[in-house]
Amino acid sequence: MYILLNDIKKYLNKTVILQGWIFNVRSSGSIYFLQFRDGTGEIQAVVSKKEVDKKSWETCESLTIESSIELAGRVYKEKRSPYGYEMQVNNIKLISLAQEYPLGKKAHGIEFLMDHRHLWVRSQRQAAILKIRDEIIYAIRTLLKNKGFILTDAPIFTPTSCEETTTLFKTKYFNKTAYLSQSGQLYLEALIYSLGKVYDFGPTFRAEKSKTRRHLTEFWMMDAEAAFVDHNENMKLQEQLVIYIIQQILKNRKRELKILERDILPLEKIKTPFEKITYDEIIQKLQKKGVKIKWGDDFGSDEETTISNMYHNPVFIEKYPAKTKAFYMKPDPDNPKLVLNNDLLAPEGYGEIIGGSQRIDDLNTLKQKIKEFKIDRKPLEWYIDLRRYGSVPHSGFGLGIERTVGWLCGLKHIREAIPFPRLINRLRP
Ligand code: 4AD
Ligand code: MG
Repeated sequence: MYILLNDIKKYLNKTVILQGWIFNVRSSGSIYFLQFRDGTGEIQAVVSKKEVDKKSWETCESLTIESSIELAGRVYKEKRSPYGYEMQVNNIKLISLAQEYPLGKKAHGIEFLMDHRHLWVRSQRQAAILKIRDEIIYAIRTLLKNKGFILTDAPIFTPTSCEETTTLFKTKYFNKTAYLSQSGQLYLEALIYSLGKVYDFGPTFRAEKSKTRRHLTEFWMMDAEAAFVDHNENMKLQEQLVIYIIQQILKNRKRELKILERDILPLEKIKTPFEKITYDEIIQKLQKKGVKIKWGDDFGSDEETTISNMYHNPVFIEKYPAKTKAFYMKPDPDNPKLVLNNDLLAPEGYGEIIGGSQRIDDLNTLKQKIKEFKIDRKPLEWYIDLRRYGSVPHSGFGLGIERTVGWLCGLKHIREAIPFPRLINRLRP
């Protein structure tokens, strides 16, 4: 019977068939130890010359790393094995003999690994990251669905920008120009009038011209948007979402975190409520630490790292100067120079994982802001319409999936948080 390794517990001491790949081979004359994986797990398969037929033994002797095979044998518990189980093989069928595998056991430089990303994803470490990524996405969808949010989609080809115009990717769209979406937010704002609470999940694009460990040019964002939700309620939801993601990872992906050698103590210690600090306060704190920053500046990567290292919990930075942020954010009624927004910064130096805000709901304020920001109003008429027909207070936020993966996995660079990273100098494979 064909089985998957994640079901192995059900088949102990039974003879089964596994299909997968050899990732390491050791031999001591009349015994071979095959390190085998099938995508759902790993096992050591033991092949003894005296237990298999001649053909199986010859196949075994010819095996190369990354060859695909079918193994038949008895599976049993083995405490000494890192996988907990072993298989005593009685038959081997070769599916495809691999050529000499370029990713050997020796350490490779990052550019070499990135050039071979299509093979690198097979490694135990990369697979662990991708499984945690899956768990994070599943946690987001579960929590939001439980809270009554409807998953709905925003377009990728858009006529205008949502965030900074300097990072727009421009593309030909028949005889017109289109821009690749930077965030689905504006479209979600339209959909709240139909569905109340909505979220999207999809690729977003930014022509980030600098090389940092936090920026991709193509990344996945989850935007959430809800009617009748104010700035504080918006932050509450972000907090609930982040703590839920952490709980699920700790519950379901301990093994993968261990493979990554992620110290889980800092994650286990995270508690709600997350502290809220205003932009004004954080500027003062940074200045006291000797950081050269003045009121009105946005944070660069270095400042974000500094702030992020100051806290053990994720921390909300709220109420930024209106000028540093996007046009759609609602002015703070107590100080119209500020907006009712927040960033959520992850600890351990990881920095921003979420950006959110309450949105302008008043027609004239929005028109005025578009004017002040010198934004072309024509492609935004539909968005302005939303304030003409039953406008309501509403808020939302966007969570960067790869930033979250990077933090929770403890990665040094965001390029490992996505299967095929797109960076300023990388479009392949
Ligand atoms: O803070 P941002 O720019 O917010 C928005 O786009 C809003 N429209 C979202 C909303 O309110 N619905 O981006 C949201 C998040 C950031 O906090 C960060 O996690 C991630 O997207 N992000 C990036 N991740 C990887 N590479 C990049 N170049 C990123 N730029 C933003
Ligand atoms: Mg942001």
